[in-house]
Amino acid sequence: MYTVGELFAGIGGIGLGFQKAGFSLSWANEIDEKACHTYRKNFKHLLINEDMTKVNPSTLSKVDILTGGFPCQAFSIAGYRKGFKDDRGNLFFDILRYIKILKPRVVFLENVKNLSSHDHGNTFKVIQNKLKEAGYYIKSQVMNTSHYSDVPQNRERIYIVCFRNKKDYDSFEFPQKTNNVKPVTNFLEDEADKSFYYTNTPMYQQLKNEIVDHNKIYQWRRHYVRENKSFLCPTLTANMGTGGHNVPLILDKKDIRKLTPRECARFQGFPDKFVLPDDLPKSALYKQIGNSVSVPVIYAIAKNIKKALDNNDTDKKEE
Ligand SMILES: C[S@@+](CC[C@H](N)C(=O)[O-])C[C@H]1O[C@@H](n2cnc3c(N)ncnc32)[C@H](O)[C@@H]1O
Repeated sequence: MYTVGELFAGIGGIGLGFQKAGFSLSWANEIDEKACHTYRKNFKHLLINEDMTKVNPSTLSKVDILTGGFPCQAFSIAGYRKGFKDDRGNLFFDILRYIKILKPRVVFLENVKNLSSHDHGNTFKVIQNKLKEAGYYIKSQVMNTSHYSDVPQNRERIYIVCFRNKKDYDSFEFPQKTNNVKPVTNFLEDEADKSFYYTNTPMYQQLKNEIVDHNKIYQWRRHYVRENKSFLCPTLTANMGTGGHNVPLILDKKDIRKLTPRECARFQGFPDKFVLPDDLPKSALYKQIGNSVSVPVIYAIAKNIKKALDNNDTDKKEE
């Protein structure tokens, strides 16, 4: 079984997708204690709760795949391009440190779509050049969750898949579009606690006038309601955890309410058996889910990575 090491593991969405595709998770690293709490409720392998810049990669077991949904710190890369030598604190350069020591056969990175256009494309160029210098062939694609899975979330992310072997690179293809999203109502819980309802809030009357379709998801934007006209859940983000009105809204059988953490997890494609610890504040759960990934998209890509590796390993055995 091919082994996986997870950097910036969060609650393990990338790991879960790879596991489902038949990979074996060896270890993970994550700095945030609350995310680690959720991670540990769901996985048994080694999780190092530590700042990844302080971990010595030589102490970690070698893995076939190194993954990282790394935080976007594009600005310091823009600085690097302009000649600033000091790249401390830039986590992409720390990922390179792991790559150079662990020499994984595949590196899988995920980030916001804008990574590819930031600083007129120069940030992404630096990232690609550094990966090439480290000996990798790179394929990348922006994918929208709602085009590549049955999950109705409008989430565009860039996925970067890097191969040490040219043959693996040649054999790998990104998944085909599926265009088979399910209705958002399939993802809602039958009942929600009254704390999720907006019934007694100052903006209730305005919400009531505008949130009228049970099949749509809405957002409160300062002074107005935004309706998702494509019948999708808007991109779930970490700022759902900062309170305010950042969690998307729906009209259920009873009234207007925000999505529950479990519903947000469903809109990221997490199965209901994935534990959302009830001893964490809801704000932490919202943040963790918004920070995570759409598991079925990861699964689809991981399946194709496995196919590419299997293909070439079978070839080798036959030679
Ligand atoms: C975009 S999220 C990735 C979430 C993950 N893909 C998931 O499925 O949950 C980035 C994660 O990197 C973590 N992180 C940020 N800086 C870090 C550091 N220096 N060392 C380790 N983890 C870090 C954050 O706490 C956050 O959970």
